[in-house]
Amino acid sequence: MPIQPHADSDASRRAFIAASAAVGAAGLVAPFAIGAPQAQSGTKTLNLGLVGCGGRGSGAANDSLSANPNVRLVAMADVIPEKARAARDGLAKEHPGRVEVSDTSIYGGLDGYRQVIADPSVDIVLFATSPGFRPRHIAEAVAAKKHVFAEKPTCVDPAGYKICCAASDQALKQGTAIVTGTQYRRQASFVEGVKRIHDGLIGDVVDMTARYCGGPIWYRGREGGMSDAQYQIHNWMHFIWLSGDQPAEQAVHNLDVVHWVMGGAPDTCFASGGRFTKPEDSEMWDSCSATFAWKDGRQCDFKSRQLPQSATDFDNVVYGSKGTAFLRAFNNGTQIYDRSGKELFSMKGDIGAAYKQEHKDLVDSILAGKPIVELRQTAESSLMAVMARESGYSGQKLTWDFISDSSTLDLFPKELKLDGELPLPFVRVPGTYQMA
Ligand SMILES: NC(=O)c1ccc[n+]([C@@H]2O[C@H](COP(=O)([O-])OP(=O)(O)OC[C@H]3O[C@@H](n4cnc5c(N)ncnc54)[C@H](O)[C@@H]3O)[C@@H](O)[C@H]2O)c1
Repeated sequence: MPIQPHADSDASRRAFIAASAAVGAAGLVAPFAIGAPQAQSGTKTLNLGLVGCGGRGSGAANDSLSANPNVRLVAMADVIPEKARAARDGLAKEHPGRVEVSDTSIYGGLDGYRQVIADPSVDIVLFATSPGFRPRHIAEAVAAKKHVFAEKPTCVDPAGYKICCAASDQALKQGTAIVTGTQYRRQASFVEGVKRIHDGLIGDVVDMTARYCGGPIWYRGREGGMSDAQYQIHNWMHFIWLSGDQPAEQAVHNLDVVHWVMGGAPDTCFASGGRFTKPEDSEMWDSCSATFAWKDGRQCDFKSRQLPQSATDFDNVVYGSKGTAFLRAFNNGTQIYDRSGKELFSMKGDIGAAYKQEHKDLVDSILAGKPIVELRQTAESSLMAVMARESGYSGQKLTWDFISDSSTLDLFPKELKLDGELPLPFVRVPGTYQMA
């Protein structure tokens, strides 16, 4: 399929994007769709800008380029520009002729993302930094009327949740797209399994279990000459303002499935956990177990942990009045049984296809003039993770009303400079820690 040269008429291309966005905002029928006539999709090219060029950023750009023949990568930002250059070179080998990122279109430092957003040739900004930056990055991209792909979690605190909700409303109003990296929503084994649950195959849903129990997580030690900010951004998993701790950074995948199956956020959360193995300067806990409860009496028992030489479990199980559904992680598929143990449904999993599908859906929706905006649902799933973490940290039972509305918790540093100092990390301990 022919790819437009980078210097195609930006004016006409942007006029097209704006027009299709406006059509989406008005809720009208799409003028055309990429999936249907190849000739049409081949005549329009969408340009990607990538912010955060580590493992997942490179992976997500690769997924988008693989899934969308009419997408190319034109700008990149990473606090460490060498990482962007390395990612660019790898992607260019994988997708010859479709990575047109000159050295002058690679931006470093904490403000580099602003230059990607400001680049008039960029249509879609793909965010894959550590999560703490996500809400503010998304909000600025939406304010600039860019389409967005945002990796999960989309927020790590209530302040970020509110930023996401406002950005979601603005995107809906102006007709720009926001797709998020919660790939199970696009994995066929989950889509078909949840559809059958919602259609009543296991009767009334009464309970769920959700697990993200894995082995130890990476730790990137401080290197000589690193400022506090450079070190924390480098070793981001271990600082709560950046990662949100394990419930948000990893188990949000499960909680997003819980949100999906249950049809929305819970009413309360009651959690506990602790830490036994984490390095001294890590703020992370090792485990968090929570009970989420909905007003109608349904519950979800959630457990996340990262412990060496311990059993692993990453699955979701949905218990109904007439049967049980196993929505298994990664490639492990879905199986649904009735009360007698008879198999009612089974489907293999393919997570790789789901990673690509989210980018295809994003691009298709833009080209069809029906931009997908799914940020609010992912912000809610992310806030469920924050709720579990904060309930555990504080030892308190939390309500959704409090965490989504009244809480003033904002973890983002008041002042952030790459060569600057940051407050000392600290471990939250129930009895002494109080959630704002
Ligand atoms: N959907 C999934 O299954 C999945 C899988 C892995 C990671 N992720 C998510 O992707 C994100 C990135 O994870 P990763 O594993 O790629 O981490 P990583 O450490 O490999 O990469 C993060 C990159 O972002 C850069 N960065 C950090 N702050 C930045 C800023 N303010 N501006 C520009 N660049 C910045 C870092 O220098 C680094 O290159 C996380 O949110 C993670 O949860 C999602």
